[in-house]
Amino acid sequence: MKYYVLFGPPGAGKGTQAKEMVEKYNLHHISTGALLRKEIAAGSELGILAKGLIEKGCLVPDEVVEGMIENEFRTVSGVEGFLLDGFPRTLPQAEALDRILAKTSEEVTATVSIMIPDEMIMERIKGRALKEGRADDASEEVINTRIVTYHNQTEPLIEYYTDKGKYNEIDGTGTIEEVRDRIFDLMDKF
Ligand code: AP5
Ligand code: MG
Repeated sequence: MKYYVLFGPPGAGKGTQAKEMVEKYNLHHISTGALLRKEIAAGSELGILAKGLIEKGCLVPDEVVEGMIENEFRTVSGVEGFLLDGFPRTLPQAEALDRILAKTSEEVTATVSIMIPDEMIMERIKGRALKEGRADDASEEVINTRIVTYHNQTEPLIEYYTDKGKYNEIDGTGTIEEVRDRIFDLMDKF
């Protein structure tokens, strides 16, 4: 199995690009954000816990998302690999992922990091707010908290994966098609 980490700040285009990546490379898309929004919509106990944190722009506890990921690995088959969108997002999550994969003597194949400047994050998320109505897209303050959370808690993963020789960054600016082609050029190598 291949395990790709789709990395990047809020609004970078992870969800947008994931759609074509999973088709082309026969992968199963796991977005921890989407899984959490599903729990919120269902009104589950986990959803109630997640709602308060997501709407503030903060991360949910590591153990919550780690459990979700392991469950998806266990229950999904018939694909060539997994595309992890928005996970891992902290160093403990990255270490947990390595431990989960080590149980079956597997490892992360590569990261695909979509990078855009902070000003573009705000612009893209505000655009999406008009179409999708995500609660955490509604206020500039929450978007700013997500940007700060990304820099403080998630950015250290760049060094983590660089040290392992697994960090690959692509320019996330330009049109959706331009970014897609850059990603495909990179993915074709794995
Ligand atoms: P999550 O759902 O993962 O949100 P995020 O990381 O903030 O990323 P987004 O989904 O906002 O952006 P995206 O990169 O997918 O961009 P998109 O393709 O939509 O997480 C939400 C919350 O859940 C977190 O804040 C946290 O609370 C919790 N959570 C999730 N995972 C967690 C974890 N592992 N640990 C703890 N907590 C976790 O694109 C954005 C917009 O831009 C769209 O409108 C799109 O059409 C447009 N666009 C995309 N590409 C382009 C382009 N090239 N040109 C022009 N427009 C473009
Ligand atoms: Mg997304």
